[in-house]
Amino acid sequence: MQTLSGKKILLGISGGIAAYKCAELTRRLSERGAQVQVVMTKAAKEFITPLTMQAVSGRPVSDSLLDPAAEASMGHIELAKWADLVLLAPATADLIARTSAGMGNDLLTTLLLATEAPIAIAPAMNQQMYRNIATQENLSTLRRRGMLIWGPASGEQACGDVGLGRMLEPMDLVARCEQYFQPKALQGKSILITAGPTQEAIDPVRYISNHSSGKMGYALANVAQKMGARVTLVSGPVALTPPQGVETLSVKSAEEMLDVVMANVTQHDIFIGCAAVADYKPANIAEQKIKKMAGHEVMNITMVKNPDIIATVAKLDEGRPFTVGFAAETQDVESYAKGKLANKNLDMICANDVSDTTIGFNSNDNAITLYWPDGSLPLGTASKSALAHEILSEIQQQLEKNAVK
Ligand code: PMT
Repeated sequence: MQTLSGKKILLGISGGIAAYKCAELTRRLSERGAQVQVVMTKAAKEFITPLTMQAVSGRPVSDSLLDPAAEASMGHIELAKWADLVLLAPATADLIARTSAGMGNDLLTTLLLATEAPIAIAPAMNQQMYRNIATQENLSTLRRRGMLIWGPASGEQACGDVGLGRMLEPMDLVARCEQYFQPKALQGKSILITAGPTQEAIDPVRYISNHSSGKMGYALANVAQKMGARVTLVSGPVALTPPQGVETLSVKSAEEMLDVVMANVTQHDIFIGCAAVADYKPANIAEQKIKKMAGHEVMNITMVKNPDIIATVAKLDEGRPFTVGFAAETQDVESYAKGKLANKNLDMICANDVSDTTIGFNSNDNAITLYWPDGSLPLGTASKSALAHEILSEIQQQLEKNAVK
């Protein structure tokens, strides 16, 4: 079966020279069974005519927010609801900036605000404009909001420059669409993952934290997204780029992480607590920087317990997701992990021995054994990405087993 058969793709074209390739792109998508609805900005029409796009898509082009006739046939909200995927190609620096700013000053940007469909962006612009910090920051913002960024490619540009900024070729974009719609193991599932450390403030310039780099949690988010899940990542402070297509929410302290998790978790099927949440925090945060005092060789900080985020999730009466924890142990790994599984009322726990510095905290590899109430599975040592795939596959199997019980 064609993977694009019956898929509704809203193709948003903005005013770049690559717009001329959209006729080819539309033909190739349609040949594979997709329904393509073209929406053009005012500038796009300077590069390719709506008549051409109507001819290749077999549908009238939408280009105006304030056209009573167009609104009467398929209004902008209906259009936004119609799409299975919104593809912005070419996406100029201007369209990317307006999208990042949340503007709705033409039909296309209004649709972007109104749609719940995933949005894929194929940037196309001069290489210097692409490298400009404003464009890069706008793209990071969109990536963080979970939008997919496809390309750009590198090469000779229409203006004569050479570098990154060319729109991906139509067949490459078709392949990305096909890959996007490929049936996947976690299709239709939503997962909330926590990652990284928390920082517990002592005063305005100091905090208590740990060595978590976020690599394990980010690998889980990345792989889960590729397996078809809708993923929300709640991340403590890390130096990693948010994974493509994953909505990433940044927090610092355990209290903030708890608030963001609880505000979102009931809209998800699965919760994975991979963050290294500080168990304790300073009882008081000094308002001013604590000064070194002559004659004081010892300084005491009173610590109080932080809320247990995963135990709070696992206690939910309504909307409780399948809840998976991690156990970071330096000794008696199995017994401590099984203890946490039971005490925190989890469905599964991923036990890792963090006494070995070549695995666990801040390394690219890990060694994990999974435990659930009536079973276990040693996954051995592997890269965090490979382990993420194994963990998510096992979660998916457990969910299937629970569904037939
Ligand atoms: O980030 P990396 O450098 O890639 O390293 C990965 C990792 C070692 C951090 C990761 O694999 C891992 O083990 N994460 C869990 C770390 C941890 O806090 O473990 P714990 O045994 O202290 O906590 C048990 C579970 O309770 C965890 O799911 C934790 O997220 C959760 N917890 C703990 C304390 C708390 N206040 N709230 C919680 O939700």
